[in-house]
Amino acid sequence: MEQQIHMEYAATKKEKPNAADLQFGRVFTDHMFIMDYTEGKGWYDPRIIPYQPLSLDPAAIVFHYGQTVFEGLKAYVTKEGEARLFRPEKNMERLNRSNDRMCIPRLDETFALSAIKKLVGVDKDWIPTAPGTSLYIRPFVISTEPYLGVAPSKQYQFIVILSPVGAYYKEGINPVKIAVENEFVRAVKGGTGEAKTAGNYASSLKAQELVADKGYAQVLWLDGLEKKYIEEVGSMNVFFKIDGEVVTPALNGSILKGVTRNSVIKLLKHWGIPVTERRISMEEIHQAHLAGKLEEAFGAGTAAVISPIGELAWNENQMIVNDGVTGKIAKQLYDTLTGIQYGTEEDIFDWIVEV
Ligand code: COI
Repeated sequence: MEQQIHMEYAATKKEKPNAADLQFGRVFTDHMFIMDYTEGKGWYDPRIIPYQPLSLDPAAIVFHYGQTVFEGLKAYVTKEGEARLFRPEKNMERLNRSNDRMCIPRLDETFALSAIKKLVGVDKDWIPTAPGTSLYIRPFVISTEPYLGVAPSKQYQFIVILSPVGAYYKEGINPVKIAVENEFVRAVKGGTGEAKTAGNYASSLKAQELVADKGYAQVLWLDGLEKKYIEEVGSMNVFFKIDGEVVTPALNGSILKGVTRNSVIKLLKHWGIPVTERRISMEEIHQAHLAGKLEEAFGAGTAAVISPIGELAWNENQMIVNDGVTGKIAKQLYDTLTGIQYGTEEDIFDWIVEV
């Protein structure tokens, strides 16, 4: 039998930010969802409560060994005022895959999604309406058992928080500059690259910090073994249009299986644009650029949506892509995906789930 979600409304409501001031992930709504897990008892006590700090034992495993996973999805509101989610079942599926990799007990995907819907429904008036804005949903699981031995926790919390957001990059939907990372690596085959787990992001900070001063928004990670083949950006998967064909790195266990990535591939196929998932080396991209055949480059992710790449720096090579302006395919993908999400384009693939 499905568990009942206990509801405790916030006594006072916070002031909502102006759409023009919205950044990514700085402001949180009035409520949060939380449920507990104890070994032998399973997941229990699902509740929506006023947004508040957590009280955790300083020995909780999550603080020491990072046994934790997260997801990212968004809620949108149509001009008729209907709240909706984009392919949320894919995020629930991926959450459980990340759980498996990190030895965290699985969640009931249907129940987790119903909890997200209920929470979004409660804070529906926080979904911003201005173009390019949405309500970012961050479900996550933390290991809460107080124990300093390295072992899977026997206690967890599954929490969902909501944040009204604008564009992820300060460039908005304008092209970003990306530096190819040659020293540090994000993930290796057999590692945790495919899981959405905190350590992948913590270990990416150093490289990110080193290029930020030079004006690069993010780094592009290469494979961890040979540092030859393109993997992903960390906050998005990447696509290149070379001589009429769109290519993206094939999923190999160290690349995140992006929901937006999958949606881009489906849309391109639907439009009859050749798209291939395969191994791509940086040398190939460089050669294509020299030959004038690198027509577009862009990233795809929930937070980033479609983010054109206007410049790619690799060693001493500074590759300006498509004269540094947004390419035709990136624009068409951005318009179609956001059109489906905001309800101005027909949902031909049945991707939308009403709240
Ligand atoms: C998302 O696109 O939701 C992500 O998880 C990227 C995030 C690290 C900002």
